[in-house]
Amino acid sequence: MWPVLAVLLSIVNGQIVLANSAINDQVDVFFGTENGGNVFPGPARPYGMVKMGVDVLDAKGGSAYSGYSPDGRINGISMMHESGTGGAPQYGVVAQLPLVGDVDLGSQQTIERSSPDSGSVGHYLVNATNGVTAEFAAADRAGIYKYTFPSGTTPSVLVNGSHHLSAPTRPWWTQYFVNGSLSTSSEGKYTGSTTIKGGWGEQSPWTIYYCGDFETAPSSINAFSGSQRFNSSTVSSSIQDGSFGFLFTFPEGTTSISSRVGISFISTDQACRNIENELSGYQIEDTVAETVKKWNTQVFGKVDIETDNSTLLEYIYTALYGAHLLPSNRTGENPYWSSTEPYYDDFFTIWDTFRCLNPLFNILSPSRGADIVRSLIDTWRNDGYTPDARSANQNGRTQGGSNSDIVMADAYAKNINDGINWEDGFSAMKKNAEVTPEYVYDPKAPDASNKEGRGALPDWLKYGYVTRAYTRSVTRTMEYAYDDFALSVVAKGLGYTSDAAKYLKRSTNWKNIWNPEATNSSVSYKGFVQPKNADGTFNGTNYDPLSCNNCYWTDDEYEGKPVEYVWAVPHDISSLVDLMGGNDSFSQRLDDMFALHGQGFADIGNEPSFLTPYLYNYVNAQHKTVELIRYLVNTKYSPGASGLPGNSDAGAMQAWLLFGLFGFYPVAGTTTYLLSSPFVPKTTFNLENGNTVEIVANNLSDTNFYVQSVQINGEDWNKNWFSHEDLFENGGTITFELDSQPIVWETGDVPPSPGHTNS
Ligand SMILES: *[C@@H]1O[C@H](CO)[C@@H](O)[C@H](O)[C@H]1NC(C)=O
Ligand SMILES: *[C@@H]1O[C@H](CO)[C@@H](O)[C@H](O)[C@H]1NC(C)=O
Ligand SMILES: *[C@@H]1O[C@H](CO)[C@@H](O)[C@H](O)[C@H]1NC(C)=O
Ligand SMILES: *[C@@H]1O[C@H](CO)[C@@H](O)[C@H](O)[C@H]1NC(C)=O
Ligand SMILES: *[C@@H]1O[C@H](CO)[C@@H](O)[C@H](O)[C@H]1NC(C)=O
Ligand SMILES: *[C@@H]1O[C@H](CO)[C@@H](O)[C@H](O)[C@H]1NC(C)=O
Ligand SMILES: *[C@@H]1O[C@H](CO)[C@@H](O)[C@H](O)[C@H]1NC(C)=O
Ligand SMILES: *[C@@H]1O[C@H](CO)[C@@H](O)[C@H](O)[C@H]1NC(C)=O
Ligand SMILES: *[C@@H]1O[C@H](CO)[C@@H](O)[C@H](O)[C@H]1NC(C)=O
Ligand SMILES: *[C@@H]1O[C@H](CO)[C@@H](O)[C@H](O)[C@H]1NC(C)=O
Repeated sequence: MWPVLAVLLSIVNGQIVLANSAINDQVDVFFGTENGGNVFPGPARPYGMVKMGVDVLDAKGGSAYSGYSPDGRINGISMMHESGTGGAPQYGVVAQLPLVGDVDLGSQQTIERSSPDSGSVGHYLVNATNGVTAEFAAADRAGIYKYTFPSGTTPSVLVNGSHHLSAPTRPWWTQYFVNGSLSTSSEGKYTGSTTIKGGWGEQSPWTIYYCGDFETAPSSINAFSGSQRFNSSTVSSSIQDGSFGFLFTFPEGTTSISSRVGISFISTDQACRNIENELSGYQIEDTVAETVKKWNTQVFGKVDIETDNSTLLEYIYTALYGAHLLPSNRTGENPYWSSTEPYYDDFFTIWDTFRCLNPLFNILSPSRGADIVRSLIDTWRNDGYTPDARSANQNGRTQGGSNSDIVMADAYAKNINDGINWEDGFSAMKKNAEVTPEYVYDPKAPDASNKEGRGALPDWLKYGYVTRAYTRSVTRTMEYAYDDFALSVVAKGLGYTSDAAKYLKRSTNWKNIWNPEATNSSVSYKGFVQPKNADGTFNGTNYDPLSCNNCYWTDDEYEGKPVEYVWAVPHDISSLVDLMGGNDSFSQRLDDMFALHGQGFADIGNEPSFLTPYLYNYVNAQHKTVELIRYLVNTKYSPGASGLPGNSDAGAMQAWLLFGLFGFYPVAGTTTYLLSSPFVPKTTFNLENGNTVEIVANNLSDTNFYVQSVQINGEDWNKNWFSHEDLFENGGTITFELDSQPIVWETGDVPPSPGHTNS
């Protein structure tokens, strides 16, 4: 625990009101770190380039995706990580490791924990069995380490230039050390670079530059390369996965050593400047306090919560924290082109985040949302395509569609325009929709490029669906349709009426793979999406909508079964209601998606089914949405390290939880939000434009959570949805009256289906 701030509580009308300055104490940085959540627990600033954390070998779960695992041996404390990803570990570069006594540089050095790690916003502490305590704190592009050594020992700090994360359980996607070099002065200031390749995005070699110094001068410095130890102020290696670096040894009896490290994708000089710009001295407390301040002003202060339920307070601020670690703001750190536009990297991945994390940014911080869109457009401008995923400054991989289209349409629809060149934005989207990306061989799915854009575009353009000649044909068809809807939104707004009509029409193409006869004997209804051949026949009349083989790269569906993908048309749910035979059968089929009332076909721990529990709103059965969201939040999520139901996926899972707790959910790429029911009596959003949005839940209790009536901005509201401008442009209030009886309270129009056409 870091004693920076005490918890400040006041009681108003029986509710605990938290002052923003103490909110960081509500955050459990270990939430979702285990059980596949893969959240990164180390210190970082919102969207920070530096994410400082421990890296472990022999993690119980196999690969340590964020570097962290509560078990295993620590082989470095490094400067860069991703958070919450599946795929494969990325980064884990630029490391130090505190050691005592004689060090065998010819073998992998590790330390072991003597107690569980302790972490809080901006600060992390490891106690090791060698008696060393390692504390560290991150700024944006630099960080600070403070080591406390036991008295009477000879302390040293290992700087291993080839350290990086690897993927023992997925060796085909592991990173490799390529080459690197380091030099040092006698005071222990060191600069160098490390080049790495590989990883989930199959990155070509990329280089990180770094600069480090120590508050105390070392008594000796050893260079090493392989098992050779020698006296030299420079050392390098170009042996794949060779070991090289420096061992800085300090005078016997030194008990406290602090070190600062800066990183840069540009040069060692810039890495050193990043230290000077961000760290005034070696006081770790100062850096922690600055980090806490940034989280409060940029993230936590955007949302005030009133509740007497401490679990919910912890959930909300912890989820806000985990939702703001990625992407990374790398403006000024782009090695490939220079530009005045913002630059963001570590979209790992947009396939995960477009549904609700990007829409969350667009509420809490639209200027940040605009920066992200500008960066996507600038990546198209200079690199050819907007990414579906990107890290280490390289696009890759695309799982289904080109979902940056939806991120862009979401901002456009919500009037988020801050500096965005929408003509270029639309050109970038059109490239996704019209230009097949250059073929890049991918051993996981060699049928088409998975680097960027839409690999199966030739089929989409020729047949109006993706045939089984391509892998993931169902996923691609469904996502290309939704992506084309996103194009129609922007085209319409820009006045390109023929493009708007063209893409709107293309957005209905998902119906081409609807097979009205498809069924499974365990369900009473018929009609699912299914792979289709080029000649227009469905591939196999017995195609099982409840199965997807492995739901992976070479299957017909990616990370979801046909029974899940059939709902993936947020732009035209009304057509789906019709195809499924009307309100009642639509609702009955929804019941089967989760185990509350039905069979439980969907996995809320993965993104394809994120919107599904809210779809009851489209047939004015909102009480069923409310009941289901209660069930999913209360049974699938829990506080603590194992609390997420799946990979966090860069904060996507936390964003889903947040909307569930707030009581509404975005339909990405549109202005619509679907109402559920809040978990807390009062939420206030402090909008960037100075307005506030209040969400008030009257008569809320453990049993009173069904909506009886709603008012928006003081007026009776008979719809179970609202649009962005109703609240988030000028501020406003939603007031829910709650009770224990599920009733159909909504008599107004169902939520819009803007992709619906009669053609
Ligand atoms: C340095 O890092 C590499 C790659 O992780 C590792 O193989 C090597 O054993 C490390 N060297 C030392 C001395 O720990
Ligand atoms: C780490 O060790 C220090 C010194 O022994 C001790 O004061 C502290 O409580 C320990 N922290 C944890 C998290 O175990
Ligand atoms: C390191 O590897 C990269 C990529 O292969 C190459 O461009 C660079 O010249 C190499 N540097 C050295 C010092 O060998
Ligand atoms: C390395 O340099 C130190 C002085 O800094 C000296 O005492 C030592 O003998 C040298 N070792 C080797 C192997 O040259
Ligand atoms: C607090 O909220 C959680 C999550 O909804 C719930 O499980 C718990 O019962 C609530 N605690 C109290 C004291 O109401
Ligand atoms: C992103 O980073 C740049 C460079 O450090 C900085 O100027 C800018 O303010 C950052 N963006 C935000 C929204 O904080
Ligand atoms: C499905 O299509 C593939 C080629 O696209 C073909 O090889 C296979 O025989 C078809 N299977 C059925 C059951 O029609
Ligand atoms: C129905 O689904 C179950 C579960 O996927 C599967 O075992 C069975 O073979 C399916 N039956 C048909 C006729 O597709
Ligand atoms: C389906 O439900 C909506 C919302 O209640 C209603 O307006 C519509 O008439 C219903 N359709 C039919 C065919 O009953
Ligand atoms: C609050 O809920 C209770 C049931 O728990 C109900 O009897 C009462 O009428 C509700 N009050 C209001 C103001 O809706």
